[in-house]
Amino acid sequence: MSDIETLKQENRVFEPPAEFVKNANISGMEAYKAMCAAAERDYEGFWAQLARDNIQWQKPFTKTLNEADAPFYKWFEDGQLNVSYNCLDRNLANGNAGKTAIIFEADGGQVTRVTYKELHDKVCQFANGLKSLGVKKGDRVVVYMPMSIEGIVAMQACARIGATHSVVFGGFSAKSLQERIIDAGAVAVITADEQVRGGKQLPLKAIVDEAIGLGGCEHLKHVVIYQRTGANIKLVEGRDLWMHDVVAGKATTCEPEWVDAEHPLFILYTSGSTGKPKGVQHSSGGYLLWAMLTMKWTFDIKPTDVFWCTADIGWVTGHTYITYGPLAVGATQIVFEGVPTYPNAGRFWDMIQKHKATIFYTAPTAIRSLIKASEADADVHPKKYDLSSLRLLGSVGEPINPEAWMWYYKNVGRENCPIADTFWQTETGGHMITPLPGATPMVPGSCTLPLPGIMAAVVDETGHDLPNGQGGILVVKRPWPAMIRTIWGDPERFKKSYFPEELGGKIYLAGDGAVRNEQTGYFTITGRIDDVLNVSGHRMGTMEIESALVANPIVAEAAVVGKPDETTGESICAFVVLKRARPTGEEAKQIAKELRDWVAKEIGPIAKPKEIRFGDNLPKTRSGKIMRRLLRVLAKGEQITQDVSTLENPAILEQLKQAQ
Ligand code: PRX
Repeated sequence: MSDIETLKQENRVFEPPAEFVKNANISGMEAYKAMCAAAERDYEGFWAQLARDNIQWQKPFTKTLNEADAPFYKWFEDGQLNVSYNCLDRNLANGNAGKTAIIFEADGGQVTRVTYKELHDKVCQFANGLKSLGVKKGDRVVVYMPMSIEGIVAMQACARIGATHSVVFGGFSAKSLQERIIDAGAVAVITADEQVRGGKQLPLKAIVDEAIGLGGCEHLKHVVIYQRTGANIKLVEGRDLWMHDVVAGKATTCEPEWVDAEHPLFILYTSGSTGKPKGVQHSSGGYLLWAMLTMKWTFDIKPTDVFWCTADIGWVTGHTYITYGPLAVGATQIVFEGVPTYPNAGRFWDMIQKHKATIFYTAPTAIRSLIKASEADADVHPKKYDLSSLRLLGSVGEPINPEAWMWYYKNVGRENCPIADTFWQTETGGHMITPLPGATPMVPGSCTLPLPGIMAAVVDETGHDLPNGQGGILVVKRPWPAMIRTIWGDPERFKKSYFPEELGGKIYLAGDGAVRNEQTGYFTITGRIDDVLNVSGHRMGTMEIESALVANPIVAEAAVVGKPDETTGESICAFVVLKRARPTGEEAKQIAKELRDWVAKEIGPIAKPKEIRFGDNLPKTRSGKIMRRLLRVLAKGEQITQDVSTLENPAILEQLKQAQ
């Protein structure tokens, strides 16, 4: 039975604990339904009230939603604010100055705490430093940093001066970094000498040098370096500066740059169906509002919570649920530099115990790998730790299979913590479909129901609603404040990717398939409907990997497909045709290794194919189109039952069946 079939038949229901419901920010299904009804009744009024109640506006807005130029929607457009002011200064004014904002734990275990006042001062100093370098409102700044207080400071400092940041995950290669620096037209890169993960020191600054060396970055004036390890690095005179020198002697106050609500807070590159990553552009006002609301609704955040999101600031989860959301609501949060398996696979549980985390938010891949590790070594089983501080768990980034859900629920949550299985995307800015921990009865493997104000639906290819029980395309029928505003520099692609004409041009196409339960209406995400893979919760475009492979001089053609994987959700399987004879045996192994390393260099280690198969050709239709769906079947090791009569070269299937 396929996973989807199993899920359709999943009938275990877990009610939120009564005690939780009693104290929840949204308490009980009636409260949830009333909020949904309020949004239905007066959509703009619903959002306007929330925006007034949650954001501190420098200049209040008078217009809520402008649809004149749809799908380029504008929210709160005549309002002005500063996101960093809302995250920091507001907390100094409301009694949180001495409250711990961040508990930072380094890879090696050293713990550093900063209060809201200290964080504010650091951000202001760095904002002043950036200003002294000439970085100003509207400039783009690339952040290529390890998980650190300084990484958050860098992002917040950009927000303070109205510069638009674009964070590039520290696992991306020089080439990926260069492409993003060029596409964003960045004037500065903020980086570190090195990053430390799992006891290893890995270069960052050297990769920045390599990226710039690839050319095309003439607009880039400064590289600012946070000294993480003290490694010996080269400084380029007139371009490179230490972060500690940039902040030295700078004032600990910095008047925020008031920006329009629509001012781009950040650009974050993500994979789509073509080879080129998309620069997802987010706003200031609408984005901040949703970061705050989802902290309050999904995470039920309270002043006493110790919140821990294990994501990296290089991904959207780290933006919304580390850099912005927790600070905007005045929470105390844990920020972790390292990896879940170092020094052993008990690291997460040890940290929850030590810091008394109350809310824990991680990815299914991490859970699945820790299940395996705890089966192999009883000492790292969560049962061995005191996790009684936990009151709420979350999951993000990929579907969580019911087995992993149950394990998480029983062993980490001790059957006493609701699990928020949060479905959302880089483009959505924050959670979209998720159980509310004090309201929604949970079903393992289902992200349940949309948040109030989110008009999610399942439709067919022409945009018509499908009845519950019938699988289709996931869409959002009304714009919402935190939605993507455009693709940086490519508005046409924005329209084509997310608001296709076939669906009427005004409803948001998520790119995922979904099905709603016949009885409950609960949503289950059935996976991407485009050429995007999800490997360990990391989004990868098949075309991106194919382009990287064919850029290698020995490769003639390549086709990449996803293959279900027990731990990483999906894994990358590449079918490759070389310009020379098809290799076999040892030679094939050797070339596969070379190509894997090549992809790591072109994109980053996360894009390395797990499996590479060589063929004399690829299965193609007579018009020359590669039949990817057949390759998916081959990758899974299943028998081909589909009609292959349209294939030009059916014999090739036999050859590609064999894994190397
Ligand atoms: O396919 C969905 C999957 O991750 C995609 C978005 O990836 P990204 O933009 O990198 O953002 C990840 C962090 C929000 C979606 O299109 N996805 C995300 N969350 C879930 C999920 N699939 C199933 N269940 C989820 N909870």
